[in-house]
Amino acid sequence: MSEERLLAERFALETVIGRGGMGTVWRAWDALLDRPVAVKEIHLPPGADHPELRARVLREARLAGKLNHPGAVTVFDAIEADDRIYIVMELVEAATLQDLVESEGPLPPARTVETTSRVLDVLQAAHRLGIVHRDVKPSNIMVAADGSVKLTDFGIARLDDGSTATASSIMVGSPAYMAPEHVRGRAVAASDLWALGVTLYFAVEGKSPYLRSTAGDSLAAVLSEEPPAPVRAGEALARLLGGLMAKRVDDRPTIEGIRAQLAAAAFFVPGFAISVFAIVATPRATGIRILAAWTAALAIRAAVDLAVLLDFTAYGFIDEHANPVVAVPSEFKASVALTCFAVLIGAALTVGRSIRERSRSWTTPR
Ligand SMILES: Nc1ncnc2c1ncn2[C@@H]1O[C@H](COP(=O)(O)OP(=O)(O)O)[C@@H](O)[C@H]1O
Ligand SMILES: [Mg+2]
Repeated sequence: MSEERLLAERFALETVIGRGGMGTVWRAWDALLDRPVAVKEIHLPPGADHPELRARVLREARLAGKLNHPGAVTVFDAIEADDRIYIVMELVEAATLQDLVESEGPLPPARTVETTSRVLDVLQAAHRLGIVHRDVKPSNIMVAADGSVKLTDFGIARLDDGSTATASSIMVGSPAYMAPEHVRGRAVAASDLWALGVTLYFAVEGKSPYLRSTAGDSLAAVLSEEPPAPVRAGEALARLLGGLMAKRVDDRPTIEGIRAQLAAAAFFVPGFAISVFAIVATPRATGIRILAAWTAALAIRAAVDLAVLLDFTAYGFIDEHANPVVAVPSEFKASVALTCFAVLIGAALTVGRSIRERSRSWTTPR
């Protein structure tokens, strides 16, 4: 190993793992602790204020260290050498969400929901500490084979305490994933939710809705264009995406609201299957088992619909300031009432038939 490839007499840079907008990421060996690490070499723009930038990187590395969440990549050190800044961090041996979608195609909605919910855990922990990530995007989310995720690049996160860290020109985030208010200069916690929405959109639809051939065009699209309607996401997930990608910060759901919607989305596919099953099975529902299965399936569907009905604002169907009772569409109320009615009829028929069959089996000699 040549001398200049040894950082701080400790980290031996081995191979390049990847390159991004800010620099190069290396796989490296920590000779002191005898373990592999990842080293991000940040390419500074000409004329950059090194001491300021180094102080900022260190401040942010310390901040990321405070998070100490299993879903966040740990930053070990920040080093200044050869006119560059190197961030030493935990090596994650997993594909990024970007790689995953590029190699395997869009994720199924159920898997997207699971990944989102894990990223949400990390963001929630960060936001509680006042840390805004500011660069949530598919290439900053590593997904392991067991489905666990690691969110990386908290290095550009910043404590939202009014600290005087000036936004450096190289550390602004990625245009196609930046929220409108972030583009205008102010990232808040809800900006991470926007970025998560665009990331989700990419994961489930297979294309980034605001990615254009130049950064300027991407930023313009973020500010003024609506994303194309999702085609693969399914009803509930599509509604969540719409809420997350609301141009106004106040129109985006809270993390608790997102969790409720994810639960609804997780139920959507089974719910849809249940409806199809009900349509196919009803005319054939002669046997008691089919009737019972149909009734149980419909009851699950009714329970989900009722949950949605009872907590309507959390699902972003209506303006949360509106009176929920008045604002719930009457078609929806009618469909929930009908489903519940069908469940009652199904249950009554099942019970009636089972009583009749039992009394017949008692009276009929074998
Ligand atoms: N801690 C890490 N462990 C393993 N690989 C990493 C790590 N951080 C980044 N990478 C890889 O390096 C690539 C480049 O990262 P980066 O410079 O942050 O650019 P970007 O996030 O825009 O892709 C990533 O796409 C990822 O594949
Ligand atoms: Mg990155």
